[in-house]
Amino acid sequence: MRHVVLVGLMGSGKTTIGRRLASALGRSFVDTDARLESTSGRTVREIFESDGENAFRDMESETLIDTLSSTTPLVVATGGGAVLRDANRDALSTHDVIWLRADPVVLQRRVGRPGGHRPLIDADPLGTLTAMSVERRPLYESVAGFVIDVDGRRPEEITAACLSHLAGGRT
Ligand code: S3P
Repeated sequence: MRHVVLVGLMGSGKTTIGRRLASALGRSFVDTDARLESTSGRTVREIFESDGENAFRDMESETLIDTLSSTTPLVVATGGGAVLRDANRDALSTHDVIWLRADPVVLQRRVGRPGGHRPLIDADPLGTLTAMSVERRPLYESVAGFVIDVDGRRPEEITAACLSHLAGGRT
């Protein structure tokens, strides 16, 4: 089964665009962070705070790989760090992966508030997002079959470009 999978940094719109794509394609939508929270009964923040990032990455990987094993076609929004593990990138290689590419300065304006499921940016949102952008760019690039720059674009426009790509059109 080939799923549509959205990757990109925190705040790039994976959940918003994922929901829109799922609705347009008549597919179910899965947000892997939300799924991880519901299956573990703990929030992402609690997991980071009590068990650390590595334990979170183990759970994230398990959730992603399990989600991708679904036999019904899905639209999947991943956490921004899902591309960090080799096993996850391998698992993504047989799916329609779309990278929502965004400038860290724009992202920081959207997600810069402390709290929520993004403990990694509590201390220094812009500095962390900038470093993540540099570190992860080649990883997003390696898994994505389609890249869209989302800065300054409305969700309708981004969704339409993704749908056109998925339909085999050129954007
Ligand atoms: C993370 C992104 C978050 C969440 C966790 C770690 C990351 O998801 O998985 O805080 O490392 O980029 P979103 O991309 O949905 O914010």
